[in-house]
Amino acid sequence: MALRRLRTSDAPAVCEAFASNADMARQGDVSTITEAEAYVNRLIEPESPHEAWAIVDGDKLVGLVGVTVDEANRSGWFWYWMADAARGRGWSARAAATVAEWALTTRRLERLELGHRVNNPASAAIAMHAGFVKEGTERAKFLVEGQRIGVHTYGRLRSDRSPSFDGLPMREG
Ligand SMILES: CC(C)(COP(=O)(O)OP(=O)(O)OC[C@H]1O[C@@H](n2cnc3c(N)ncnc32)[C@H](O)[C@@H]1OP(=O)(O)O)[C@@H](O)C(=O)NCCC(=O)NCCS
Repeated sequence: MALRRLRTSDAPAVCEAFASNADMARQGDVSTITEAEAYVNRLIEPESPHEAWAIVDGDKLVGLVGVTVDEANRSGWFWYWMADAARGRGWSARAAATVAEWALTTRRLERLELGHRVNNPASAAIAMHAGFVKEGTERAKFLVEGQRIGVHTYGRLRSDRSPSFDGLPMREG
């Protein structure tokens, strides 16, 4: 397993991942290869604020960890997903911890933030593994299938102590 930069050629694997579990619907509108290409291209275009790292098994994308950078505030919105077949092996947690560390050191950001719905314990586990600290709850933030769902919010500062983790290799280029 490794991390490498997202590429246009990952679109078919992205499409597969979005089809793998209904919970991917909230990650974006991808149900065709054309939509997957648009999704990938939006993340990698030259002026994009996104730093998108593919989680790869061999060279095949199975998941994605991203940081959407706010340069003015030297902060970044942190997000991640994993294809259903590759879940439950600890790869998302290792990938998220690796990218968070990279974002606060090599990428020189000073604050990372993320949010997950209160009924998404897997995402909470990833946030904790990646050294994020829970900062609050936005109550009843979203209307999902007729129910109001809150969002737990997290932050990690460069000055926070790094978590110990088993990092994945990061391949630039
Ligand atoms: C969230 C997501 C990335 C987790 O992926 P994963 O590959 O299964 O995660 P890992 O295998 O790395 O597991 C990491 C931790 O999550 C825990 N976990 C995984 N699924 C869980 C669940 N359903 N309930 C509780 N904990 C869970 C694991 O036990 C592990 O914690 P531990 O090491 O302390 O035991 C994946 O479920 C996903 O892509 N969901 C849809 C997109 C999404 O919700 N993204 C986050 C948006 S905020």
